[in-house]
Amino acid sequence: MNNIHLVYFSPALSTRRIMREIGKNMGAEVKEYDITMGLGQSLDIDNRDLVVFGIPVYAGRVPELAVNAFRKIKGKNTPAVLVCVYGNRDYDDALLELKDICEENGFVAMAAAAFIARHSIFSGVAEGRPDEDDRQKIAGFAQECMLMFQSYDSTKEYAALEVKGNRPYREPSKGGYVPAGDESCDACGICVKQCPVEAIRADDPKITDMDLCIRCARCITLCPEHSRAFRGELYEAVKAKFAPMMAARREPEVFFNKI
Ligand SMILES: Cc1cc2nc3c(=O)[nH]c(=O)nc-3n(C[C@H](O)[C@H](O)[C@H](O)COP(=O)(O)O)c2cc1C
Repeated sequence: MNNIHLVYFSPALSTRRIMREIGKNMGAEVKEYDITMGLGQSLDIDNRDLVVFGIPVYAGRVPELAVNAFRKIKGKNTPAVLVCVYGNRDYDDALLELKDICEENGFVAMAAAAFIARHSIFSGVAEGRPDEDDRQKIAGFAQECMLMFQSYDSTKEYAALEVKGNRPYREPSKGGYVPAGDESCDACGICVKQCPVEAIRADDPKITDMDLCIRCARCITLCPEHSRAFRGELYEAVKAKFAPMMAARREPEVFFNKI
């Protein structure tokens, strides 16, 4: 095996953290590609390499921006590990969709996992995740993936990896609330530059375009003044309704190809 590539979309940085934990536990050098702001070049990845794809779950699906970037990454029977990170509600069809995308692009899905991290929209849900228990499971998963890849043979026909999920995938939903800045915004412009869909006004960064915003919460995570947040009656009502339903602790799930 040659290189290990970590390819991830991670606006609010939890997926990145879990991907780096996986990389660290693979015991080899890794190349990182953060595709949150897009992927400039196309990538062709050799079948002696390994790619770990990571996404946050959005409404039970793969975020659309990640789908667009993944289409530029091609394998040639290249082994892949699929990772989704979700905010303790459910990951529904996200892993299955990620598997389908990777297979269409020439990868062989050999292992997959669903890990839990703090909910980037509903603060307080899954706060403190991934915790020590999660980290041990992440480490165990990474080590098992490495063992599997040491014996990977690109000329062999492997059975399809079985993961949870259904086709047709869940219909995407969009809430009617977006983050905004408050009076502590000093117009530094970080959120404007770092918004993956250019939804924040350069002349008044407190204002977010409701039609463009994908609610990824990157602006909230990166704001040095902690000025940005989801606010307002609708948001508070949705949070009051849904957060209690997401309170029961979910545990990581892993899937391996039966060689
Ligand atoms: C638009 C959006 C939709 C989400 N949908 C779900 C969901 O369906 N199920 C869930 O458990 N968490 C959901 N989450 C929470 C994220 O999956 C979770 O917070 C993840 O850790 C965010 O990853 P990131 O920090 O790398 O951006 C959603 C978050 C966002 C921003």
